[in-house]
Amino acid sequence: MSDLSLNLDREFPIRREWVYMNHAGVCPLPARVAEAIRLFADQAAAAGATRYADWKATLQRARERAAGLLGCEANEVAFVKNTTHGLLCVANSIDWRAGDNVVTFEGEFPANFWPWKNLERLGVERRAAPWRPDGRASLQDLEALMDSRTRLAAASWVSYANGFRLDGAAFGALCRRRGVLSCFDGIQGLGAAPANVAEWGIDFLSADGHKWLLAPEGFGVLYCSNRAVGQLNDAMTGWCSRAGYGDYEDHSLPLHGDARRFEEGSHNMLGAHAFDAAMGLFHEVGMDAIAARIRAVTNYLVERLRRAGWAIHSPRGEGEWSGIVSVSKADVDPQAVVKRLFERRVVAAARVGRVRFSPHFYNTEDEADRAMEAM
Ligand SMILES: Cc1ncc(COP(=O)(O)O)c(C=O)c1O
Repeated sequence: MSDLSLNLDREFPIRREWVYMNHAGVCPLPARVAEAIRLFADQAAAAGATRYADWKATLQRARERAAGLLGCEANEVAFVKNTTHGLLCVANSIDWRAGDNVVTFEGEFPANFWPWKNLERLGVERRAAPWRPDGRASLQDLEALMDSRTRLAAASWVSYANGFRLDGAAFGALCRRRGVLSCFDGIQGLGAAPANVAEWGIDFLSADGHKWLLAPEGFGVLYCSNRAVGQLNDAMTGWCSRAGYGDYEDHSLPLHGDARRFEEGSHNMLGAHAFDAAMGLFHEVGMDAIAARIRAVTNYLVERLRRAGWAIHSPRGEGEWSGIVSVSKADVDPQAVVKRLFERRVVAAARVGRVRFSPHFYNTEDEADRAMEAM
């Protein structure tokens, strides 16, 4: 369902004071998410965990809604602390052999660097393909690094630096053809562009809630396909990973045969309530409508910036655009620009020597004009 008749001023209190275009950093909370947090806190204060069954039901609804956004089954979604935690779950659940390798790209955000780099202690090599001068990561270059000892490919779905979006279906197809597990750091894409992990045929995607998903930090999703889960060991599992984990005396409970095995201990119920409220917003408005708005407002911004003489570093073609617009200008210090914008109540970021704008669906062309005036 698509509903852009949403009252944006009420839903996004941030708009009263700020032109907020830093969703690739940390998002502001929609009113309904803030309200869900307040309600949960009030209830936990007044009644403790006496309504734990309701909390579990909210957790499950959040799982189902997140699965809708990812394009997978609900039992293929595990809740994790953050993107890094999800990637660590993957990296530490594979029975590596010395001499294996992981292929990835240079310039990944460190969340998608350390989980693979850490495997050096097991004799696993991390191989990184360079970026093309045109600002794109090429799957051909990734494939050129693969050999018979490649076990997994790890890439950002969307680059934090310039916003280039990798083709999920092509990534999945390449990895399947080469018999390699496929893993996306999805945090810069999920909630900004439509995902369909089942159709892409990828194995894993990890994303925290605090950017495009409009939820707080510290509560994210790990998609783990039912196809891949059988290949994983139990190193990252704990008591809540087991079917019937409420039976504390039974130490022989079987592991969940799906992603939920990664929920090793007590759940972040506060986070789940906030995340569920954010997922409700996505379902109400519709991912396609959200993506269309993000595309329109970023197109508008790109056009205005180009006319003002800024170089655009974000690939903008069909299938490769994202919510990130990365720009630079000769002799202009991006840090100074971001500071000046901040003083004029416009929030952007400086990354890799450029100014990075990342508006969401509720940002308007008017706001883009205000950002340009502040530049
Ligand atoms: C590509 C990418 N991955 C991961 C993260 C954050 O990782 P985590 O959720 O583990 O804090 C960021 C944050 O900027 C990012 O841009």
